[in-house]
Amino acid sequence: MTAGLKVGVLISGRGSNLQALIDACETANFPASIVLVISNNPGADGLRRAEAAGIATAIIDHREYPDRRSFDDALDSRLRAAGAEIVCLAGFMRLLTAEFVEGWNDRVLNVHPSLLPAFKGLHAQRDALEAGVKLAGCTVHVVRPEMDSGPIIAQAAVPVLTGDDEDTLAARILEMEHVIYPLALRLIAEGRVKIAGTVAETTGTAPNPAALVNPSGE
Ligand code: GRF
Repeated sequence: MTAGLKVGVLISGRGSNLQALIDACETANFPASIVLVISNNPGADGLRRAEAAGIATAIIDHREYPDRRSFDDALDSRLRAAGAEIVCLAGFMRLLTAEFVEGWNDRVLNVHPSLLPAFKGLHAQRDALEAGVKLAGCTVHVVRPEMDSGPIIAQAAVPVLTGDDEDTLAARILEMEHVIYPLALRLIAEGRVKIAGTVAETTGTAPNPAALVNPSGE
C-alpha cells in the first residue's frame, strides 16, 4: 500500500540503502512509501530488491542519451509520472544537472559515506583513512548541484579503529547509513525539516548529547 510521502529512489548498484528505505517504509506508520525505483545500470542488484518488495522499477540507461540534460529529463518525467514527491539518491553514480536539482526544489536527498563537508567524492573512506581521522561517518543531505553538498539533515559518527582498511571502515559506516537515511526521510515526511539557506533545521527531535571520543583514553 502506498501511504504518506511518495518517494522515488535512484540507484546504480548494490542497493543496500534502498533496502534500508524499503524496510523502513514497510514498518507500521512510517510516513513515506516508495513509488518507483530507477536504475541507470540495467545490472544493478538493487532492482532485484525493489522487485522482491513489489515496488515498480525502471531502467533509464544514461548511455542511451546524448547528454546529461536529456538523461535527467527522462528521469524527471518518470519520477513525476509515478507521483514521486521526493527523490532519494541511494548509490546513484551520476551527477545530476542543476536544472533537475532545482526543479525538485529541496526535494532530492543523498547519503554520503563521510562526515561532510569532509571527504567529498568517490573515495570518501580511503581519503578518511589517509587523512588519519579518528572519527569517520556518514551524512544525509539535501542535494545541491555541486557534488556532495547541501543542507545536512542527519549525520552519524563511527570510530576509525587500528587496523582498519577501506572495507572494514566502509562496512562500519554503511551500517549507520542504513540508520540515518530512514531517519532523515521520516523527519522530512513528518514536516520537521526546514531549509534555511545552507542549513537544515530540524524541529521536535531529541538532540543526542553524547560525545564520541576515539581513542577512549582507557
Ligand atoms: C553508499 O556507501 C553510499 O553512501 C554511497 O554509495 C554507496 C551505495 O551503497 N553514495 P548501496 O548501493 O546503497 O549499497
